[in-house]
Amino acid sequence: MSDLYDKLVDLAKKRGVYWVSYEIYGGLAGFYDFGPVGVLLKRSVIDEWLRTFVYAFDFVVEIETPIISPQVVFKASGHEEHFTDPIVVCTKCGRVYRADHLIKEATGINVEGASLESMWRIIVEKGVKCPECGGDLSKPENALLLFKTEIGPYRGQPGYLRPELAQGMFVDFKTVLNIARNKLPLGIAQVGRVARNEISPRQGLLRLREFTIMELEFFHDPSESRRDVEDYLWFVEGETLNVVTAESRERGIEEPVKLTVREAFEKGVVKNPWLAFWMGVGAKFVRSLGIPPEKTRFLEKLPQERAHYSAQTFDQEVYSSKFGWVEIAGYAYRTDYDLKRHMEYSGVDMFFFKRYERPLEVVKKRVLIDYKKLAEFLGEKYQSVLKSLQSMSQEELYEELTSKGYVLIGDVKLGREFFNLREEKTLVHGEKIIPHVVEPSFGVERLLYILLEYSYTVVEDRVVLRIPPRLAPYQVAVFPLLAGSKEEHKAMSSLARSIVKKLREKGLRVVYDEEGSIGRRYARADEIGVPYAVTVDHQSLRDNTVTIRFRDTRNQVRVEIDKLYDTILKYLEDNKMA
Ligand code: ATP
Ligand code: GLY
Repeated sequence: MSDLYDKLVDLAKKRGVYWVSYEIYGGLAGFYDFGPVGVLLKRSVIDEWLRTFVYAFDFVVEIETPIISPQVVFKASGHEEHFTDPIVVCTKCGRVYRADHLIKEATGINVEGASLESMWRIIVEKGVKCPECGGDLSKPENALLLFKTEIGPYRGQPGYLRPELAQGMFVDFKTVLNIARNKLPLGIAQVGRVARNEISPRQGLLRLREFTIMELEFFHDPSESRRDVEDYLWFVEGETLNVVTAESRERGIEEPVKLTVREAFEKGVVKNPWLAFWMGVGAKFVRSLGIPPEKTRFLEKLPQERAHYSAQTFDQEVYSSKFGWVEIAGYAYRTDYDLKRHMEYSGVDMFFFKRYERPLEVVKKRVLIDYKKLAEFLGEKYQSVLKSLQSMSQEELYEELTSKGYVLIGDVKLGREFFNLREEKTLVHGEKIIPHVVEPSFGVERLLYILLEYSYTVVEDRVVLRIPPRLAPYQVAVFPLLAGSKEEHKAMSSLARSIVKKLREKGLRVVYDEEGSIGRRYARADEIGVPYAVTVDHQSLRDNTVTIRFRDTRNQVRVEIDKLYDTILKYLEDNKMA
């Protein structure tokens, strides 16, 4: 399989999908460039995600916020304290490793989220050494993964590059809520670059220091979620979630149970119905990338493996022939953690006013003080006693006076004659709540890699990227046959060019190629996954028809040029491949 991987990496570079950044300076670990084909493929993945997670719903909107933020944002979010990974340093060669990964590789023991002491114990007991030079390892310590920067060139204020998009949505929650006419549920989505100072990243596109995330923060009222989700379950009907629960993982069982979205929350496997809902949407999305359902699963994280803000987390994983199970998305139940923290640090109200369907009538107990009488009675003690009385709540005072008939302030006993007790009816229109949040978060580059791995096929020594047609970097290739007389060449290539022009004007991405034999041209188009190849031949000059060749089957059909665009559009709609 590593053979396949090496070939894939070669192809990726040769055909402009991706390659190591800063190659002329020796490359930089954790950074990749994307070429002409890679850029288009990433955009296809993003568009598909937007269609599935954003445009499909009235209550989801997309925003864009900065990559750089002031320090306070990641203090409030808890990242400055918690966004760390454990590292060990080789005392001989100085190489730095991620402690949990190194222990896993050396001993097979999963210590993700374990304490530094317990990792140290395993290193000592199992004699884990530097895999490069065999040197002794240092005691594990935590390293901050946030990239630091300075905002302003001269003695600027400290800032961070965002490691996730989420904080942009939390900080903007009230503004967007207002734009969305103050209604819950509300999904705020964003697609953008993030940076994480990962420790010695390897594994190509799977572990980068700068990458693209597609994230949705879904704000909702937890007390209504069970009811609200009912209206949308039709959307994920028929989706099956392969779930490996934390409980079964603890018993050493990795076999998933198959659940519908409804079963997942009704059985209590997924704690929040909306979290289960978005997992269903995620299953649908991954299927649309051409990944068979049995190759994906939702793995529940153990408590010690979860991020600091999460009450329950599932990783959506896809099986990779090269890397085994790979996390492509995280689904976290962030509760009201983030909004609360931002309220605390910013002092700004982040409440949602939950309006009741009908106002509630409530009886308020009120106690009016007869100040004049009280002053006459107390003399110089008046001010201090009054202060104590006013510090008590109305309900408390009411309660004392009705149950005991007096209230005691220090050694002063005050009877009911100093007060006027009343019951007042008022209408309450709603209450202030802090919404809860569930978050699906996808990494684009990991999906791109998975998409390539699943598409990469070799047919008679030639590579064919079997990318689902509507995700292909180019939808159509157009070739003039270029056989026969010089005049015929000219006529075929000008007809082909006019077809290209028309298809491009209608919005399709088209490859035009007139170099080399037709077989070579088909092969080049196959290598970058172009699903349909249109050939202009001698017959085209006579009857205005062209052939369309299907990438995966190599079958051909002949269609009229006038119907070409509609035919291709229909093929794309149906993901047609034969
Ligand atoms: P991991 O456990 O692999 O470090 P994570 O749990 O920290 O990942 P999340 O914080 O949930 O990942 O990030 C959301 C998604 O972003 C992941 O599911 C993954 O697809 C992607 N992602 C995370 N870290 C990286 C990285 N270093 N390089 C590329 N993609 C990443
Ligand atoms: N979303 C991953 C993190 O920032 O912790």
